[in-house]
Amino acid sequence: MSVILQLMSESIEYIKQHIQTLRSTIDLHNYRYYVLDDPTIPDAEFDSMMRELEHIEQEHPQLVTLDSPTQRVGAVPLKAFAQVTHRQPMLSLSNAFSTAEVEAFDRRICEGLSASCVEYAVEPKFDGLAVSLSYEWGVFTKGATRGDGYTGEDITANLKTVRSIPLSLRVNNPPALLEIRGEVLMLKADFLALNLRQQARGEKLFANPRNAAAGSLRQLDPSVTASRRLAFFAYGLGEYDDLNVPCDTHDHVMTYLASLHFPVARECGVVQGTSGLLAYFQQIGDLRDQLPYDIDGVVYKVNAIEQQQQLGYVSRAPRFAIAHKFPAQEAMTELIGIEVQVGRTGALTPVARLNPVFVGGVTVTNATLHNADEIARKDVRVGDTVVVRRAGDVIPEIVSVVPEKRSTGAPVFAMPDHCPACGARAIRLPNETVSRCTGGLFCPAQRKQAILHFASRRAMDIEGLGEKLVDQMVDNAIIRTPADLYRLGLAALANLERMAEKSASNLLQAIENSKHTTLTRFVYALGIRNVGEATAKDLAIHLGSLDRLMAADSERLQQVSDIGPIVAESIVDFFAEAHNREVIEQLRASGVQWLEHEEKLDSKIQALPLSGKTFVLTGTLPTLSREQAKEKIELLGGKVSGSVSKKTDYVVAGSDPGSKYDKAVNLGITVLDEAGLLTMLQ
Ligand code: IVH
Repeated sequence: MSVILQLMSESIEYIKQHIQTLRSTIDLHNYRYYVLDDPTIPDAEFDSMMRELEHIEQEHPQLVTLDSPTQRVGAVPLKAFAQVTHRQPMLSLSNAFSTAEVEAFDRRICEGLSASCVEYAVEPKFDGLAVSLSYEWGVFTKGATRGDGYTGEDITANLKTVRSIPLSLRVNNPPALLEIRGEVLMLKADFLALNLRQQARGEKLFANPRNAAAGSLRQLDPSVTASRRLAFFAYGLGEYDDLNVPCDTHDHVMTYLASLHFPVARECGVVQGTSGLLAYFQQIGDLRDQLPYDIDGVVYKVNAIEQQQQLGYVSRAPRFAIAHKFPAQEAMTELIGIEVQVGRTGALTPVARLNPVFVGGVTVTNATLHNADEIARKDVRVGDTVVVRRAGDVIPEIVSVVPEKRSTGAPVFAMPDHCPACGARAIRLPNETVSRCTGGLFCPAQRKQAILHFASRRAMDIEGLGEKLVDQMVDNAIIRTPADLYRLGLAALANLERMAEKSASNLLQAIENSKHTTLTRFVYALGIRNVGEATAKDLAIHLGSLDRLMAADSERLQQVSDIGPIVAESIVDFFAEAHNREVIEQLRASGVQWLEHEEKLDSKIQALPLSGKTFVLTGTLPTLSREQAKEKIELLGGKVSGSVSKKTDYVVAGSDPGSKYDKAVNLGITVLDEAGLLTMLQ
């Protein structure tokens, strides 16, 4: 090598090393500042190191890496978020709202583990947004929202702007994969400052820190996210391939995450039994107002990982953990009107219009009144002073009226007997609590709601198709059904109010993008009565194709877990309607498509050995109590039902079996004795 070349390569080596030192020093001070809240150098010194690094990287762009601190901001705005399938589903937590529910939880755990006292890891329940962070070979490569738990949105560029999220793991031999699960939120102080800024600029104010965090995270332009101060707290792991992850207890996992410089709540702890759980709840409740972030309760997790695995999962939530929520918050205000809204299925819902009131961190102007019976039961009248309650994300509701404050002569409220949107007759069927508009899809309100539901995030996810736009499009007869969306052109949209060419073409692009979907989303999007997301998923998994779903009769549908006669009838009725079949055909003809059977691959929870199997217990088993047998079956994902039907897979019979045994024999269902059951469980 010539002397010059050698000098050059040595100097490049020197620069590389210098860059490395600068990056790790910057990361360390970033960690001290944003995670430990304990900076040891003045801001100016930090800024000057950043400037130096930026300068060197500009001179040597080939040395820029994904995890350089200069890469937090500056990514270009996206057109749309890409979808990310989670390697491990992001589950939810069951809730407890009372001491009795916590006691019952602890009892279930003790029984399930055959233990007298169990150790729990206890944590705040952050009121933010769940995210998953993937580190490949130590570098933060992908960040995603929770989405429906199985598929979320790729928000990597936005998450990189969150200063407390490490861009790289500063360890020797970093693991091939480490997925961190946690919550992004906005600290209360940053929220107040943001709203002051918004106000000064005449921009919209955020209702609470959670909304502000959500709004900031779902920005297509990462520079907007970067301008909002977001925080992150880790609370667990997704998939990993890291031999250093402790496999004994959850609290050791958390200590490990903290050692990797992930922010972990200071308020985490370990307690024993119900008394420990309740004392923690009280302690955090007392601290709540002083905490720098909003919480809506606390989370209890069985601490030993082996015990967690023994307890397993039920549906979408772990059995070994529960969220203990703080009680709902209440406030008084005046009811200024009752408006009747028409839903997707024609249900008329009375909505209370309120004098704005601040409840649990949010200004509330509307509350649900449920239905006419509820209004009558609570005797709610326009002009009344009412108590409004808000719990977490739930729609605020009217709890009661304050009778002493009622002015004399306030009229009793009556539900209209005609639809306020289309004038068709509104009727109330004998077994229903709600009145329904009989206008069907001739009723513009029902049509609008059906289209909005179709386009909603959890359904076809057509970004930008909001209420105002749908109102205009339906009122101007531009669209009548969801299928019409796929025939829209720029010209039709351009005439709409407040629709610039750019937003029109963005909308068309969003509609185009929605064509590639999943069977679950599509079935959910159809808006079949009584078919929510979970049912849509069950249908997609069990039937595997739309044609099979459309052809299924009530009996076939009831073979799907959790589908009873009412839901089955709604599904059959929906597909029997010629209009609905026509819309589906039009949607398919426009290119709306999905991978049939894909959900089978999607759901890891289904992978438990007895998932989808239903057992019925009868008679006295020689050694196991009913409760113990049930626990054992459920631990492996099976379901225990009280009565024998065609859907039953096995009947477990002990001595003196009842009529269930005869029925099983008649229906040709496999009958097991205790020994047979235990062999199967092994
Ligand atoms: S653990 C396996 N821990 O609550 C369960 N979740 O319904 C995974 N959340 O969307 C969740 N604080 O984002 C866990 N300390 C905490 C939490 C927490 C808030 C959120 C989470 C999820 C929801 C669960």
